[in-house]
Amino acid sequence: MEWSAGRTQVNSWNEWDPLRHVIVGRATDCHIPPNEPALEAKVPEDSDMRGMWGKRPQESIDRGNELLDGFAALLEARGIRVDRPDPIDFSQPVTTPDFHTGSQFGCMPPRDVLLTVGHEMLEATMSYRCRWFEYLCYRPLMQRYFEEDPRFRHEAAPKPRLTDADYHKDYLSEKIGVEKRLQWAADKHFVTTEEEPLFDAADVLRFGRDLVVQHGFTTNQKGIEWLRRHFPDHRVHAVNFPGDPYPIHIDATFTPLRPGLILNNPQRRLPEGQREMFHRNGWEIVDAAQPAHNSPPPLCYSSTWLSMNVLVLDPKTVCVEKSEVYQAEQMDRLGMEVIPVELRDAYAFGGGLHCCTADVYREGGCEDYFP
Ligand code: ARG
Repeated sequence: MEWSAGRTQVNSWNEWDPLRHVIVGRATDCHIPPNEPALEAKVPEDSDMRGMWGKRPQESIDRGNELLDGFAALLEARGIRVDRPDPIDFSQPVTTPDFHTGSQFGCMPPRDVLLTVGHEMLEATMSYRCRWFEYLCYRPLMQRYFEEDPRFRHEAAPKPRLTDADYHKDYLSEKIGVEKRLQWAADKHFVTTEEEPLFDAADVLRFGRDLVVQHGFTTNQKGIEWLRRHFPDHRVHAVNFPGDPYPIHIDATFTPLRPGLILNNPQRRLPEGQREMFHRNGWEIVDAAQPAHNSPPPLCYSSTWLSMNVLVLDPKTVCVEKSEVYQAEQMDRLGMEVIPVELRDAYAFGGGLHCCTADVYREGGCEDYFP
């Protein structure tokens, strides 16, 4: 069915077809959550955030929202429909029969929670206790899409129990050291155990019939197997990036730009043994340009590699963070038109231009790129 702005349709099969409708997150009421096993393993050992929790400073939230609103307005000016989540009160603790944690997180990166595959939007299990209820921020939109699009499939993966059995204890020490972390990453020994299926939506990249899923801290093998059974018409490929001591979410590591071309973080190269399907089908995997910054902004979970966390608007047009001049230059050389978007002061809320969005509609259908 053809796109018409007046009618809601959920349809998106890949990361690059022309974008028509998208969700952009909000920084409102975002909290630094208290310590919990999955988070402890993730916060970099030298981070300014270790040991602190509570609501983020209001000025930083206002600034984050200013940038996210600006990004939403820029997309709208290009004719893209933009919806926004409804933040809940993130100061509320999360208590289930199995665990308790003192606060929630926020709703800035919808990419982490919502996986759009064709006419379906799937709420991920999530792997942090503080993000257990984050899907509630998107329920008003899901209800609307359900009413307005008769083909829309609203799905939710089984909520995980997230007891201590979900986390490896050896990851819960203050000082592990990067060397040991890299060894563990190479051995595919991550903080999450195989107790039950776990995945965050941002570990999944969509290539038409193929889904590429990062096995790491936020997605375990059972989570990947769950996706395989849930999408029987897809081929699901597990990948891992041994160069990443904090492997969380694939979109600052491996970034498809258009059919045949993927940027790969040069510090987190896809192992030779996992490149076969790309090479066999003539896809090029190129090293991403260096980030423009030496360190992430204050109180940020992510690395400087949010430089490559770009949002592709169509196979010739890409949004790149405004200060990421090397990444923009490389895009230009690769034949992409670059739209600079200021977002760095919103990174602390959970990520960059790709993270802070979730696809609702891209043109095109389900192609087989790896026959
Ligand atoms: N793990 C990535 C890095 O720090 C950040 C990924 C953020 N992505 C997201 N969808 N929240 O390099």
